[in-house]
Parts: sequence; C-alpha cells; structure tokens
Amino acid sequence: MTKGKILVLNGPNLDMLGLREPEVYGRQTLATINHGIASYAEGMKLECDFFQSNSEGALIDKIHEVRENYDGCILNAGAYTHYSYAIRDAIASVEKPFIEVHLSNVHAREEFRRHSVISPVCKGVIAGFGMHSYLLAVSAMRDLIQ
Ligand code: DQA
Repeated sequence: MTKGKILVLNGPNLDMLGLREPEVYGRQTLATINHGIASYAEGMKLECDFFQSNSEGALIDKIHEVRENYDGCILNAGAYTHYSYAIRDAIASVEKPFIEVHLSNVHAREEFRRHSVISPVCKGVIAGFGMHSYLLAVSAMRDLIQ
C-alpha cells in the first residue's frame, strides 16, 4: 500500500489555540493537536504536512499546492469558512478531496457560524468534537484516498 499524503490546513486565529476562548476551543495548543493528528495518521499509513496562516492569500496558495503535492486536505478555515468565496473557489479549482473541520459545534453558536460557503465544495463536514474532529477527518480521508 502506498503511503497517502495529506495537508492539514488551519486558518485565522487557530494559532491562538490554548489561549483563545478556552471554554469554546479547549486548552490544547495547535502544536499539541497537530502532534496528535500526526501520530494518529501514522497509524493509518498517512503522512501529514501542517500549515497555519492568518492570511487568506497564504491559505489559497497552500490550497493550490494540494493539486500537485497531496492526496487530500483537512481544512479548518476558521472564520473564513463563513464568507470567503476566494477560499471556496480555490478548493473548487483542486481536484482532490477536502474535508471541512471545526473544533466547536458551529451550529450551536452565533447565527453567522451556521453558514459555510466552503461546505458545498468539500466532501464532508465534521464539527463539535474538539481535537477529535481532526482525527475523525483523518479516518474519513483514509477511506477517500486509499
Ligand atoms: C472554528 C469555528 C469558526 O466559526 C471560528 O471562526 C473559528 C474556529 C472552529 O474550529 O470551531 O475560528 O472554525
């Protein structure tokens, strides 16, 4: 079996995990979460690269890289989820599976979080399970790409 390679992409303010609204997002840092994802994925014969940016353009450039360099992408686009048509179009331009992930249950929060402009171009959405949202996405991605 060839080893699949996936990109785990995090958007704005996710570099603040651990400090940011811990009652909503928990106390784990992004580094801790990424470490957990890497070891979980390793057990599934998947290799992960990790990237976080607060800037929309940098995220779009990375999404474009998925076309050539990865089998799929797990994406927490943060607040861009709710209004970035540019990120939506970038995902649509890449013929690889994307899974939308959220730590929090976006449907149980403010009204503006209930709408995602990227869901229609993603294979599926996982929200509300904290770090486990990413692990569930890794498991789903394995089935999509292997
Ligand atoms: C989030 C939910 C978004 O609404 C919010 O803007 C974030 C994080 C989540 O992981 O729960 O930055 O994507």
